[in-house]
Amino acid sequence: MATRTFKVWRGDKDGGEFKEYSVEVQPGMVVLDGIHRIQAEHSSDLAVRWNCKAGKCGSCSMEINGKPRLGCMTRLNSLPEGTVTVQPLKTFPLIKDLVTDVSWNFEQNKRIPPVKLKPRDADGNYRMMQEDIDRVQEFRKCIECFLCQDVCHVLRDHHKHDHFVGPRFMIRLAQLEMHPLDTVDRVPAMRKEFGSGWCNITRCCTEVCPEHIQITDNGIIPMKERVVDRYYDPIAWFLKKVFGGSKA
Ligand code: SF4
Ligand code: SF4
Ligand code: FES
Repeated sequence: MATRTFKVWRGDKDGGEFKEYSVEVQPGMVVLDGIHRIQAEHSSDLAVRWNCKAGKCGSCSMEINGKPRLGCMTRLNSLPEGTVTVQPLKTFPLIKDLVTDVSWNFEQNKRIPPVKLKPRDADGNYRMMQEDIDRVQEFRKCIECFLCQDVCHVLRDHHKHDHFVGPRFMIRLAQLEMHPLDTVDRVPAMRKEFGSGWCNITRCCTEVCPEHIQITDNGIIPMKERVVDRYYDPIAWFLKKVFGGSKA
Protein backbone atom coordinates (compact mmCIF):
# COMPACT_ATOMS: atom_id res chain seq x y z
CA MET A 1 0.00 0.00 0.00
CA ALA A 2 1.19 3.54 -0.79
CA THR A 3 2.35 5.82 1.99
CA ARG A 4 2.58 9.57 2.22
CA THR A 5 4.52 11.74 4.67
CA PHE A 6 2.48 14.25 6.66
CA LYS A 7 4.28 17.10 8.40
CA VAL A 8 1.85 18.29 11.07
CA TRP A 9 2.19 21.20 13.46
CA ARG A 10 2.10 20.02 17.08
CA GLY A 11 2.04 22.46 19.95
CA ASP A 12 0.11 25.13 21.79
CA LYS A 13 0.35 28.87 22.50
CA ASP A 14 3.67 28.37 24.28
CA GLY A 15 5.34 26.86 21.23
CA GLY A 16 5.66 23.71 19.20
CA GLU A 17 7.16 22.12 16.12
CA PHE A 18 6.32 20.15 13.00
CA LYS A 19 6.27 16.37 13.44
CA GLU A 20 6.44 13.89 10.60
CA TYR A 21 4.17 10.88 10.23
CA SER A 22 4.12 8.22 7.57
CA VAL A 23 0.52 7.48 6.63
CA GLU A 24 -0.92 4.69 4.50
CA VAL A 25 -3.06 6.26 1.80
CA GLN A 26 -5.80 4.96 -0.46
CA PRO A 27 -7.44 6.48 -3.53
CA GLY A 28 -10.05 9.11 -2.64
CA MET A 29 -8.56 10.01 0.73
CA VAL A 30 -8.74 13.63 1.84
CA VAL A 31 -6.30 15.41 4.15
CA LEU A 32 -8.69 15.04 7.10
CA ASP A 33 -8.67 11.25 6.56
CA GLY A 34 -4.88 11.37 6.86
CA ILE A 35 -5.13 13.34 10.10
CA HIS A 36 -7.63 10.82 11.48
CA ARG A 37 -5.28 7.99 10.53
CA ILE A 38 -2.48 9.72 12.44
CA GLN A 39 -4.79 9.98 15.46
CA ALA A 40 -5.71 6.31 15.18
CA GLU A 41 -2.25 4.87 14.54
CA HIS A 42 0.37 7.29 15.85
CA SER A 43 -0.85 10.03 18.12
CA SER A 44 -4.30 9.88 19.71
CA ASP A 45 -3.84 13.32 21.33
CA LEU A 46 -3.49 15.18 18.01
CA ALA A 47 -6.12 17.94 18.21
CA VAL A 48 -8.23 18.74 15.13
CA ARG A 49 -11.68 20.29 14.80
CA TRP A 50 -14.14 18.73 12.36
CA ASN A 51 -17.77 17.80 12.19
CA CYS A 52 -19.56 17.12 8.89
CA LYS A 53 -16.78 15.80 6.63
CA ALA A 54 -18.84 17.17 3.77
CA GLY A 55 -17.62 20.75 3.35
CA LYS A 56 -20.65 22.21 5.05
CA CYS A 57 -19.88 22.88 8.74
CA GLY A 58 -16.76 25.01 8.22
CA SER A 59 -14.96 23.36 11.16
CA CYS A 60 -11.96 21.68 9.54
CA SER A 61 -10.20 24.83 8.30
CA MET A 62 -6.43 24.43 8.28
CA GLU A 63 -3.44 25.46 6.20
CA ILE A 64 -2.43 22.72 3.80
CA ASN A 65 0.87 23.19 2.00
CA GLY A 66 0.69 26.82 3.12
CA LYS A 67 -2.80 27.55 1.77
CA PRO A 68 -6.00 27.95 3.82
CA ARG A 69 -8.31 25.04 2.89
CA LEU A 70 -10.91 22.66 4.27
CA GLY A 71 -9.24 19.40 5.35
CA CYS A 72 -12.31 17.37 4.43
CA MET A 73 -12.51 18.75 0.89
CA THR A 74 -8.84 18.54 -0.07
CA ARG A 75 -8.08 15.27 -1.81
CA LEU A 76 -4.54 14.03 -1.37
CA ASN A 77 -4.26 13.31 -5.09
CA SER A 78 -5.03 16.97 -5.84
CA LEU A 79 -1.83 18.01 -4.05
CA PRO A 80 1.64 17.86 -5.60
CA GLU A 81 3.63 14.68 -4.94
CA GLY A 82 5.65 14.63 -1.73
CA THR A 83 5.16 15.71 1.84
CA VAL A 84 1.81 17.16 2.89
CA THR A 85 2.30 20.03 5.34
CA VAL A 86 -0.59 20.76 7.69
CA GLN A 87 -0.72 23.61 10.17
CA PRO A 88 -3.35 25.66 12.03
CA LEU A 89 -4.87 28.92 10.79
CA LYS A 90 -2.30 31.63 11.40
CA THR A 91 -4.66 34.55 11.97
CA PHE A 92 -6.30 33.26 15.16
CA PRO A 93 -4.83 32.26 18.53
CA LEU A 94 -3.69 28.68 18.73
CA ILE A 95 -5.36 26.40 21.26
CA LYS A 96 -3.65 23.11 20.40
CA ASP A 97 -2.14 21.49 17.29
CA LEU A 98 -4.59 22.25 14.44
CA VAL A 99 -7.27 23.91 16.59
CA THR A 100 -7.46 27.69 16.82
CA ASP A 101 -9.73 29.98 18.82
CA VAL A 102 -12.01 31.59 16.23
CA SER A 103 -14.36 33.20 18.77
CA TRP A 104 -13.26 36.71 17.69
CA ASN A 105 -15.32 36.13 14.55
CA PHE A 106 -18.49 35.44 16.51
CA GLU A 107 -17.93 38.66 18.45
CA GLN A 108 -17.84 40.58 15.15
CA ASN A 109 -21.13 39.03 14.12
CA LYS A 110 -22.78 40.23 17.33
CA ARG A 111 -21.71 43.83 16.60
CA ILE A 112 -23.60 43.98 13.31
CA PRO A 113 -27.11 45.49 13.63
CA PRO A 114 -29.74 42.95 12.56
CA VAL A 115 -32.46 43.48 9.95
CA LYS A 116 -35.36 45.77 10.86
CA LEU A 117 -38.19 45.19 8.40
CA LYS A 118 -40.12 48.05 6.83
CA PRO A 119 -43.94 48.08 7.32
CA ARG A 120 -46.08 45.74 5.25
CA ASP A 121 -47.96 47.05 2.24
CA ALA A 122 -51.61 48.14 2.69
CA ASP A 123 -52.85 44.63 1.81
CA GLY A 124 -50.69 43.13 4.58
CA ASN A 125 -48.07 41.64 2.25
CA TYR A 126 -44.40 42.25 1.67
CA ARG A 127 -43.25 42.66 -1.90
CA MET A 128 -39.74 41.99 -3.14
CA MET A 129 -38.21 41.79 -6.58
CA GLN A 130 -36.79 38.37 -7.42
CA GLU A 131 -33.51 39.97 -8.56
CA ASP A 132 -33.06 41.55 -5.11
CA ILE A 133 -33.57 38.17 -3.47
CA ASP A 134 -31.16 36.48 -5.88
CA ARG A 135 -28.51 39.07 -5.13
CA VAL A 136 -28.26 38.20 -1.42
CA GLN A 137 -28.64 34.43 -1.85
CA GLU A 138 -24.96 34.12 -2.71
CA PHE A 139 -23.89 35.52 0.66
CA ARG A 140 -26.13 33.08 2.51
CA LYS A 141 -23.98 30.19 1.24
CA CYS A 142 -21.25 31.13 3.76
CA ILE A 143 -20.33 28.19 6.02
CA GLU A 144 -18.25 30.33 8.39
CA CYS A 145 -15.05 28.42 7.79
CA PHE A 146 -13.12 31.72 8.21
CA LEU A 147 -10.60 30.77 5.53
CA CYS A 148 -11.17 34.23 4.04
CA GLN A 149 -10.48 35.83 7.42
CA ASP A 150 -7.32 33.75 7.72
CA VAL A 151 -5.90 34.83 4.37
CA CYS A 152 -6.80 38.55 4.56
CA HIS A 153 -3.50 40.39 5.03
CA VAL A 154 -5.20 43.15 7.06
CA LEU A 155 -5.85 40.59 9.80
CA ARG A 156 -3.15 38.00 9.08
CA ASP A 157 -0.11 40.24 8.67
CA HIS A 158 -1.17 43.62 10.06
CA HIS A 159 -3.29 42.32 12.97
CA LYS A 160 -5.92 45.04 12.53
CA HIS A 161 -8.57 43.02 14.33
CA ASP A 162 -9.63 46.16 16.21
CA HIS A 163 -10.12 48.11 13.00
CA PHE A 164 -11.48 45.76 10.32
CA VAL A 165 -14.17 43.05 10.61
CA GLY A 166 -12.71 41.09 7.71
CA PRO A 167 -14.20 39.72 4.49
CA ARG A 168 -16.64 37.26 6.07
CA PHE A 169 -18.36 40.09 7.93
CA MET A 170 -18.17 42.50 5.02
CA ILE A 171 -20.38 40.05 3.12
CA ARG A 172 -22.61 39.69 6.19
CA LEU A 173 -22.98 43.48 6.10
CA ALA A 174 -23.64 43.33 2.35
CA GLN A 175 -26.26 40.62 2.88
CA LEU A 176 -28.13 42.82 5.36
CA GLU A 177 -27.61 46.09 3.50
CA MET A 178 -28.97 44.56 0.26
CA HIS A 179 -31.96 42.99 2.03
CA PRO A 180 -34.91 44.40 0.07
CA LEU A 181 -37.08 44.97 3.17
CA ASP A 182 -34.44 46.23 5.59
CA THR A 183 -34.53 49.79 6.96
CA VAL A 184 -31.32 49.98 9.00
CA ASP A 185 -28.53 52.29 7.82
CA ARG A 186 -25.18 50.58 8.43
CA VAL A 187 -23.11 52.81 6.13
CA PRO A 188 -21.61 55.05 8.86
CA ALA A 189 -20.61 52.00 10.92
CA MET A 190 -19.27 50.26 7.84
CA ARG A 191 -16.88 53.14 7.35
CA LYS A 192 -15.92 53.61 11.00
CA GLU A 193 -16.44 50.65 13.32
CA PHE A 194 -16.25 47.94 10.66
CA GLY A 195 -13.34 49.53 8.77
CA SER A 196 -14.32 49.01 5.11
CA GLY A 197 -11.48 51.35 4.06
CA TRP A 198 -8.86 48.84 5.22
CA CYS A 199 -9.69 46.46 2.38
CA ASN A 200 -7.58 47.19 -0.67
CA ILE A 201 -9.37 44.69 -2.92
CA THR A 202 -6.58 42.16 -3.32
CA ARG A 203 -9.24 39.43 -3.81
CA CYS A 204 -7.21 36.85 -1.80
CA CYS A 205 -10.36 36.16 0.27
CA THR A 206 -12.38 35.31 -2.84
CA GLU A 207 -9.68 32.91 -4.04
CA VAL A 208 -9.87 30.70 -0.94
CA CYS A 209 -13.65 30.65 -0.38
CA PRO A 210 -14.81 27.01 -0.63
CA GLU A 211 -18.34 28.20 -1.47
CA HIS A 212 -16.99 30.28 -4.37
CA ILE A 213 -18.71 33.40 -3.07
CA GLN A 214 -17.57 36.46 -5.02
CA ILE A 215 -16.69 38.15 -1.73
CA THR A 216 -14.81 41.09 -3.18
CA ASP A 217 -16.67 41.89 -6.38
CA ASN A 218 -20.24 41.23 -5.23
CA GLY A 219 -19.96 42.09 -1.52
CA ILE A 220 -17.08 44.31 -0.52
CA ILE A 221 -16.83 46.59 -3.56
CA PRO A 222 -20.57 47.52 -3.53
CA MET A 223 -20.28 48.28 0.21
CA LYS A 224 -17.19 50.42 -0.30
CA GLU A 225 -19.09 52.25 -3.05
CA ARG A 226 -21.91 53.05 -0.64
CA VAL A 227 -19.42 54.53 1.78
CA VAL A 228 -17.82 56.59 -0.98
CA ASP A 229 -21.23 57.81 -2.22
CA ARG A 230 -22.17 58.87 1.29
CA TYR A 231 -18.98 60.54 2.40
CA TYR A 232 -17.35 61.70 -0.79
CA ASP A 233 -20.40 62.49 -2.94
CA PRO A 234 -22.73 64.34 -0.55
CA ILE A 235 -24.86 65.85 -3.35
CA ALA A 236 -25.81 62.41 -4.65
CA TRP A 237 -26.64 61.32 -1.11
CA PHE A 238 -28.75 64.45 -0.47
CA LEU A 239 -30.71 63.99 -3.72
CA LYS A 240 -31.32 60.36 -2.88
CA LYS A 241 -32.56 61.36 0.58
CA VAL A 242 -34.91 64.02 -0.79
CA PHE A 243 -36.22 62.24 -3.86
CA GLY A 244 -36.03 58.74 -2.47
CA GLY A 245 -34.64 55.59 -3.98
CA SER A 246 -34.22 52.11 -2.72
CA LYS A 247 -31.74 51.54 0.11
CA ALA A 248 -30.62 48.43 -1.68
S1 SF4 B 1 -9.95 41.77 -0.85
FE1 SF4 B 1 -10.01 42.98 1.05
S2 SF4 B 1 -10.99 41.65 2.54
FE2 SF4 B 1 -10.34 40.34 0.81
S3 SF4 B 1 -8.32 39.58 1.41
FE3 SF4 B 1 -7.99 41.46 0.20
S4 SF4 B 1 -7.86 43.13 1.73
FE4 SF4 B 1 -8.78 41.35 2.77
S1 SF4 C 1 -17.13 33.78 2.88
FE1 SF4 C 1 -16.35 31.82 2.13
S2 SF4 C 1 -14.27 31.67 2.99
FE2 SF4 C 1 -15.33 33.26 4.14
S3 SF4 C 1 -16.16 32.25 5.93
FE3 SF4 C 1 -17.78 32.23 4.35
S4 SF4 C 1 -17.53 30.30 3.25
FE4 SF4 C 1 -15.65 30.63 4.43
S1 FES D 1 -15.62 18.78 8.55
FE1 FES D 1 -17.28 20.15 8.04
S2 FES D 1 -16.40 21.44 6.53
FE2 FES D 1 -14.87 19.95 6.88
